[in-house]
Amino acid sequence: MIRTFLTLPQRAATSYPIFLDAKIIEVLESLVTHEEQLVIITDHRVKKIYGTSLHRELLERGFHVLLFSFEAGEQSKTSKTKEELELAMLQAACGRKSVIIALGGGVVGDIAGFVAATYLRGIDYIQVPTTLLAMIDSSIGGKTGVNTIYGKNLLGAFWQPRALLIDLDFLKTLSQQQLINGLVEAIKIFLTSDREAFLMVCNQIDLLLEADSTTLRWVIQRALKHKVAIVQRDERESNERMVLNFGHTIGHALEHLSNYKIMHGYAVGLGILVELKISQLLGFLPQEEFNIVTDLFARLKITPAIIAKIDPKDLLRATLHDKKNLAGSTRYVLLDQLGVVRKKGEAFLHFLDDTIVLRALKEIR
Ligand code: GLY
Repeated sequence: MIRTFLTLPQRAATSYPIFLDAKIIEVLESLVTHEEQLVIITDHRVKKIYGTSLHRELLERGFHVLLFSFEAGEQSKTSKTKEELELAMLQAACGRKSVIIALGGGVVGDIAGFVAATYLRGIDYIQVPTTLLAMIDSSIGGKTGVNTIYGKNLLGAFWQPRALLIDLDFLKTLSQQQLINGLVEAIKIFLTSDREAFLMVCNQIDLLLEADSTTLRWVIQRALKHKVAIVQRDERESNERMVLNFGHTIGHALEHLSNYKIMHGYAVGLGILVELKISQLLGFLPQEEFNIVTDLFARLKITPAIIAKIDPKDLLRATLHDKKNLAGSTRYVLLDQLGVVRKKGEAFLHFLDDTIVLRALKEIR
């Protein structure tokens, strides 16, 4: 098992361990006490496969532990679900010494973390991601939140967990779609920070699609290294952390417009293609580099056909609620090369005119 730390130098005493290859129950035992009220929050699918057994094992070890779940899926990531969880915890008289265990994918981690951020003005939580996407991206760095009718993740808080436990055994039950959903987030990180790793993913894509555990472990460890470093430098997303939103401006709009029928990774993949096309149209990214990514995404079945029925103007309109907007103008991450973000002075984001975005959308379709 590997243990590393995420340390936030801006905030005194904020440092927490990240365990890779953790055996959940054993590590949890070392992170919580018998005086604390443990609250597992999960969704109904993960509850069936892992939640009920974790609950039982913790009870057998003498912990006070409750288990709450909600309907799986992005549609559940709402203030309503958050409130239902909070009321259930209040009804069970969970006090300040409660520790939430967020057991699940990105939706569970984001909601459970947001409950932790506001319950009795803030309690501890532990991230236990069960999907590749959550292991690589959403469980790292303290972003928590819910969606609203106006868009994705518009309500939330930065609330760092007590610890993050990654057990690769969870990947054994992932569908191929879920695997691709997570791989896109790794590809996103590598495209913005690590050309060599991106090319490795291209070379190893067959193994990755077969869920080969050694290759997946390598991807997770490498992506984790970059994500931790970026969050340590810019926890509150004032500048550099925005590169992690590569592909997300269009991606979030697409998810929202499709009523979350298009999965996050697929939507972000299409958003990445648009931002790469813009980079190419503006003369930054060479055409051959753009083609390498489209070839890889074709292997993942991420192709513009997914958005054939969506009007580009509707998509642009939907980006206006994106968090990264300032004064009605939408901002994008662009690349100079695969692995190299184009900066404008010190800024990692670019304000773009709608015409260039529309042109890119039309060209990739
Ligand atoms: N998922 C993007 C970030 O954590 O900043």
